[in-house]
Amino acid sequence: MALLGGLAIQVVRPSLTHPAVTADLEAPAEVKQILKKSCYDCHSNETRLAWFDEVAPAYWIVVRDVNEARQHLNFSEIAKLSRNEQSAKLFEAVSQVQLGAMPLPGYVRLHPGANVSSGELQVLRNYVGSLAAPVASGSDPAPAANPSEVEPALNGITIPRDYRNWKPVSSTDRFDNGTMRAILGNEIAMQAIAENRMNPWPDGTAFAKVAWWQRRDEQRIVHAGAFAQVEFMIRDRRKFASTKGWGWARWRGSELMPYGHDASFSNECVACHTPVRENDYVFTMPIVAGANRSQPNPHARTQLNREASLEGLPVDVFAQKVITSWIDPRNGTMSTLYGNDIAAEHARNRVAGQPYPEGSALTAVTWKQQEDARWFGGRIPGAVVSVEIVTAAPTYSYREFEGSPLKLVHSGTQPTADGRAAYLLAQAASPMP
Ligand code: HEC
Ligand code: HEC
Repeated sequence: MALLGGLAIQVVRPSLTHPAVTADLEAPAEVKQILKKSCYDCHSNETRLAWFDEVAPAYWIVVRDVNEARQHLNFSEIAKLSRNEQSAKLFEAVSQVQLGAMPLPGYVRLHPGANVSSGELQVLRNYVGSLAAPVASGSDPAPAANPSEVEPALNGITIPRDYRNWKPVSSTDRFDNGTMRAILGNEIAMQAIAENRMNPWPDGTAFAKVAWWQRRDEQRIVHAGAFAQVEFMIRDRRKFASTKGWGWARWRGSELMPYGHDASFSNECVACHTPVRENDYVFTMPIVAGANRSQPNPHARTQLNREASLEGLPVDVFAQKVITSWIDPRNGTMSTLYGNDIAAEHARNRVAGQPYPEGSALTAVTWKQQEDARWFGGRIPGAVVSVEIVTAAPTYSYREFEGSPLKLVHSGTQPTADGRAAYLLAQAASPMP
């Protein structure tokens, strides 16, 4: 009986086509050889099926995988995409390999030769790393006026207009596509972080990720310049059950145009976030200040960025709002400047030359950068280098903290025109439409 059944399903064969190779990936031979060996069976028009794949039902699974894989990424047609799109696909490819998500683990069990060794991974990283976006220099064009009405995303989600007042969760440097990002959380997200309830995240959690184009100044410091896009993940297990319990939405450019052609754009978001499904689909490891570090919940699968967290500070930095970020490539550091409500309001609506008003307080945190283990093409904050706190008026003060836990190493009450405080006070806010 089993034999008969086995024969019967050999007859019903879904189709696997082999379209012509029209626009194959152009890459150095040693790179292509690795991709051909490990990825082309699914992600190209040159699928070679080993004999055991030809036996149904394995055959059906393979056909399904290949058809799906080609839709997501097809190396035989990738050269039709723009340079930027191709490089984005390749950075994603390396990240998926690093995370062990690709080649599909089930496939590697049957085809051990398809495994990407650590030496081969390094070859891919070296090549793909060289495709990173160049950083523009000079100044950014003035941001467009805030749009009064923003169209909902194509899946019906409307933009949470108060996202600018959400609190900082982390900052990242995405050298793959030349952007700088701030990840912000709403109150429920911040509460969940404080209570170490991050996996799963509670319903009502919302994250915003704001991206700016990187721009290099005359001192070769790279700043978060013109606004690129803002995107959201909104937790509602029931409402968004079909997209892994998160609602996904993205608006691009300072006109805040909804992203995508139709509601299926969420599939792109889900596909790229799937390698971190063990973290409830969230990449970012939150950075916290002080108290939360000392009261870990032993039952939570914690995913805090402990190395970058702050201990021993007189102010809760992460109750402030993000003003801007910059990178010093020579020192390999990233800084984010935060402000209390008065300072953030002023920085965001500043008329050139106007001083910060009474009650303003700014905090700049500088971290060593470290590679994002979850995303090849990203750098996240590592060890804390320093924290600087400036109050502008009525009494000026500048304090600098270093070490772990942080200790006061510097303080001043007299402003100097060329000092660090002046530098921090002169930074323009990165636009958030
Ligand atoms: C056995 C088939 C198979 C092999 C081999 C395979 N993949 Fe995949 N890949 C898939 C399938 C199926 C998907 C889509 C669904 C998913 O993510 O599971 C996918 C998705 C992807 C995506 C996501 C694309 C997107 O649009 O989000 C990337 C990137 C990727 N694969 C890279 C690779 C790389 C790089 C290799 C080789 C090192 C590889 N894959 C090998 C089957 C495969
Ligand atoms: C090609 C991969 C990729 C795609 C596609 C993608 N993301 Fe992400 N996303 C990331 C990475 C990597 C991070 C981590 C932060 C960073 O460095 O940019 C992230 C972070 C986020 C965050 C902050 C919370 C977190 O998970 O860390 C939000 C919100 C987000 N993405 C929304 C979206 C939405 C909405 C879409 C679809 C419109 C989308 N993403 C598509 C890679 C992707």
